[in-house]
Amino acid sequence: MSLRVLTGITTTGTPHLGNFVGAIRPAIEASRRPGVESFLFLADYHALVKCDEPARVERSRLELAATWLACGLDPERVTFYRQSDIPEIPELTWLLTCVTPKGLMNRAHAYKAATDANAGGEIDNGVTMGLYCYPILMAADILMFNAHQVPVGKDQVQHIEMARDIAQRFNHMFGGDRPPFVLPEAVVEEDTALLPGLDGRKMSKSYDNTIPLFEGGAKALTHAIARIVTDSRLPGEPKDPDGSHLVTLFDAFADAGERAAFREDLRAGLAWGEAKQRLNAAIEREIGPLRQRYDELMAHPQRIEDLLQAGAGKARA
Ligand code: TRP
Repeated sequence: MSLRVLTGITTTGTPHLGNFVGAIRPAIEASRRPGVESFLFLADYHALVKCDEPARVERSRLELAATWLACGLDPERVTFYRQSDIPEIPELTWLLTCVTPKGLMNRAHAYKAATDANAGGEIDNGVTMGLYCYPILMAADILMFNAHQVPVGKDQVQHIEMARDIAQRFNHMFGGDRPPFVLPEAVVEEDTALLPGLDGRKMSKSYDNTIPLFEGGAKALTHAIARIVTDSRLPGEPKDPDGSHLVTLFDAFADAGERAAFREDLRAGLAWGEAKQRLNAAIEREIGPLRQRYDELMAHPQRIEDLLQAGAGKARA
């Protein structure tokens, strides 16, 4: 039996270079391994919990789909779909809701963070039932396809544990000797896959330190790279490659020989300006051809829609 790997992407933003290195590139590589059956979907129902701007969710869905396809996701190999095209997901959500103890949801980090912020006042202020039941919808996403493994960031591990709890309960109550649900396991992305942003902290939209993946084209990429923070050593002065996040960024797009040469040249006094040009060239070498495919797809949204419809057909079957 093949290993089923499933993950969802909330459709609220535009992917950046950190998403590419940390999630998109490894997931696409993993999907090509023999014996793996990949499910990847746009979690647009989850997006509604975080975002009440329909236009933004719609835009993000399109950009995310185009990004994954441009980066090499093969819709023949991967079951690639939009959550809201699968009516069985909300249907299963209700069945699971009816076996989920309310106390379990009280312990969810996102809900607790919201109620902690309301301490002293009405604790459920601003909390929707969508936020409260978010983990049950996520459990349905996963259990629906009997996924074995769910690659996620650390912040999502609790949700996978809740999906396990809910599955176990359902199996126990209704499964008899043929329990319907596989108990899923979280696979946490390693810290080495975390790309630093312009300022050296983890690349993240909330720190405003991101490098765009495709948005704005080659120009925006160069512009962002120019803003990477370095120390003030002058051209010709030896530089310490190990303390530099510019080097970490370079590593993510270079082979072993290039990495060694880059370090050696920095120790020998390579100017930061020139180092940025080399970084730019290394990223562009990999991203440039993908950007062309991305622009092509964004110019033909109907192609994306057709692929998503075909994916929904496969997923529903
Ligand atoms: N909640 C996840 C996140 O914010 C996205 C998501 C929704 C998901 N459903 C999922 C991830 C199912 C894995 C499996 O990142």
